[in-house]
Amino acid sequence: MIDILKGVNLYLIGMMGVGKTTVGKLLAAEIGYRFVDTDEVIIKAAGKSINEIFTENGEAEFRQLESDVLAQVCAYTKLIISTGGGVPMQQQNWSYLHHGLIIWLDAPIGIILQRLAEDNTRPLLQDADIESKLTSLLEQRQPMYSQADLHITISAIETPEEIVTRILATIPSILKPQ
Ligand code: S3P
Repeated sequence: MIDILKGVNLYLIGMMGVGKTTVGKLLAAEIGYRFVDTDEVIIKAAGKSINEIFTENGEAEFRQLESDVLAQVCAYTKLIISTGGGVPMQQQNWSYLHHGLIIWLDAPIGIILQRLAEDNTRPLLQDADIESKLTSLLEQRQPMYSQADLHITISAIETPEEIVTRILATIPSILKPQ
């Protein structure tokens, strides 16, 4: 696998709660890549949580930080990059994503809801009705997510290891033959 990829970066996109970080870390370990999470880079650089950035600086500033991180990681190879759920909504971010292979992790709202039921780290889910917020976000975002090179639909019974195996099995079909 490592040979066919030739160091090209893999970007994981998709809604919050689909498991981009968990799957991304496993994938990186499996193929000997380094793992980067755009949210983590922003938190470290800003010295505050994403909730704090949204409240104190506003969402627009957070989105700019996200684009800055993507611009920077393009300079590296052999990376698995887990991106925040809103990344594909900014047109300029696609010029960065297209430096690598883009994998959309897609899970039904029911699975996402279960995983995020107790979560309070996502500023966009502070609404009383998380289900309708997630549904409307997914509706807006689906057209952008679907531009990924690879669409991986996740079922409730699948383990992160199984998802990684499926991704690795599918990658050769989307790489151009030499
Ligand atoms: C967001 C998703 C979050 C984080 C921020 C905004 C979004 O990342 O970037 O809360 O707009 O969907 P994850 O997708 O890693 O949860």
